[in-house]
Amino acid sequence: MSNYLIGVSGGIACYKTLTLCRLLMKAGHDVRVVMTENACKFVTPLAFETITRNRAYVGEFDAGLDPATIEHIDLAGWADEFVIAPATANTIAKIAHGIADNLLTSTILPYKKRLLIAPAMNVDMYANPITQENLKKVEAMGHMIIDPGTGEMACDAEGKGRMAEPEDIFQILTAEMPLKGVKVLVTAGPTAEPIDPVRYITNRSSGKMGAAIARKASEMGAEVKLIAGPVSINLNGLNVTSVTTAEEMLNAVRENLADTDMLIMAAAVADYKPAQYSEKKIKKNNEEMNVPLTRNPDILKTISAEKLEKQVFVGFAAESNDVKENALAKLQSKKLDLIVANDISRGDIGFESDENEVSLYFADGTNLESGKMHKSEVAKLIINRAFDIFRGK
Ligand SMILES: Cc1cc2nc3c(=O)[nH]c(=O)nc-3n(C[C@H](O)[C@H](O)[C@H](O)COP(=O)(O)O)c2cc1C
Repeated sequence: MSNYLIGVSGGIACYKTLTLCRLLMKAGHDVRVVMTENACKFVTPLAFETITRNRAYVGEFDAGLDPATIEHIDLAGWADEFVIAPATANTIAKIAHGIADNLLTSTILPYKKRLLIAPAMNVDMYANPITQENLKKVEAMGHMIIDPGTGEMACDAEGKGRMAEPEDIFQILTAEMPLKGVKVLVTAGPTAEPIDPVRYITNRSSGKMGAAIARKASEMGAEVKLIAGPVSINLNGLNVTSVTTAEEMLNAVRENLADTDMLIMAAAVADYKPAQYSEKKIKKNNEEMNVPLTRNPDILKTISAEKLEKQVFVGFAAESNDVKENALAKLQSKKLDLIVANDISRGDIGFESDENEVSLYFADGTNLESGKMHKSEVAKLIINRAFDIFRGK
């Protein structure tokens, strides 16, 4: 039995949310509802109260609230899952911009897990570029949008914007999480190796691939930790340890290794670092300058000695030539179960791009080509294959 918090905002699809509550109740879950004032114009709190056998929360400053509780904080802490259905264009815009001006939006801000959002609105409201931009923002925060359906609307228009059916939302909310109980450790982004207080050497890496893997694994129910080098992408909603250098990344991986089932090393770790760090900024007194470099620890090679029988290690190989040969050599020397190879000589994929095309080489000698797809799809493919190996161990 889980605690489901249902946020209801002011759209005509409110009546469908009664069915969602009923389905969750019948499945034995505890259900609480937070409504906006406008939602109450479509369906009364009493209707939700009757179905959920709990108070329906509306006013943030209602007289008579229990002084021992702070509703928006307590509700956010209480919920195992939080879904906004229907989510109006207005409430989505507020979520995208961090506005907290009613009990529903105030409860969203302290909620630490992934929100599920079921948009419901007229076709033109949905297609409006501002709404689309807000949906993208909200998704980038790590929340999940439950795609609206296409068809006839209450306003007689036809098109996309109808709230997903309550049965479908119920399915998504209560879906079996294949990775539940599995502990996944992911590294992402570059490392930065300081030369002096203002300069460093680094590798090209946006961290998008590693972040996509972390997000997908957590969507599939895994307990995910992400160790990220310096990146400027949005990592909201993820459990992140931030590091700068390869040595810091190695230490963070080591600290978490014993408690990990699947390790996915998507970070672009600098192979070399300056042999000496200058405490003072180096002045431009000379025509030429040499920075002697020394080898960084090879994280995967170092920890491969500590690898447990049951663990799955996945590495990445970003190669500009002889992709297959280099990837296979890495697979063997680092005791990996799977290596994901990228051809970085192609400009249309990898690095800052949202798309990728990779080759997967497995320890049993087999391989798989992903074809060009969105990084979240590549992430799913990698996780599914790594999980197959984990189950087989
Ligand atoms: C009859 C009627 C139906 C509405 N249906 C929707 C809807 O389905 N989706 C939506 O985004 N807004 C809809 N609106 C507009 C919202 O109610 C309005 O933007 C309101 O400010 C939303 O407030 P809330 O997000 O705090 O609930 C509707 C308004 C009316 C009068």
